[in-house]
Amino acid sequence: FKILVLNGPNLNMLGKREPQIYGAQTLTEIIEQLAEKALSMDISLSHVQSNAEHTLIDAIHQGFGEIDFIIINPAAFTHTSVALRDALLSVAIPFIEVHLSNVHARESFRHHSYFSDIATGVICGLGAKGYDYALDAAYHLLKPGKN
Ligand code: DQA
Repeated sequence: FKILVLNGPNLNMLGKREPQIYGAQTLTEIIEQLAEKALSMDISLSHVQSNAEHTLIDAIHQGFGEIDFIIINPAAFTHTSVALRDALLSVAIPFIEVHLSNVHARESFRHHSYFSDIATGVICGLGAKGYDYALDAAYHLLKPGKN
């Protein structure tokens, strides 16, 4: 299987950025661990982090007909981006939305997501482990004879 991991704006600052909310691990560490796990599951994992909406949209378009599943933390674009939502709809690749923090326990502007109603599932509040759980879930959804 081919899985694309997408991380939105400011997630390149993980480790330095509000560690009490987002944890001490850097994005590089999180993705390295995830890639190792993927390798052991025979999954080919690609990763794109960008602070620019269009780069994330382009990465989604490039996944058309290529990528089996997307794991996305849209970061602040979660609460703003119709364009990113439309990109995911345009390629019709199933995806899981991940947030490190529990967005529902935070400011009210973080309670609405442009992605949750079209996602296969949503994981939030479980820190970096959320990406691991998403990978497990994607694998179980993709493999034949699921359930
Ligand atoms: C986030 C939550 C968003 O509200 C915020 O803008 C982020 C990170 C999270 O992973 O908890 O940048 O997506």
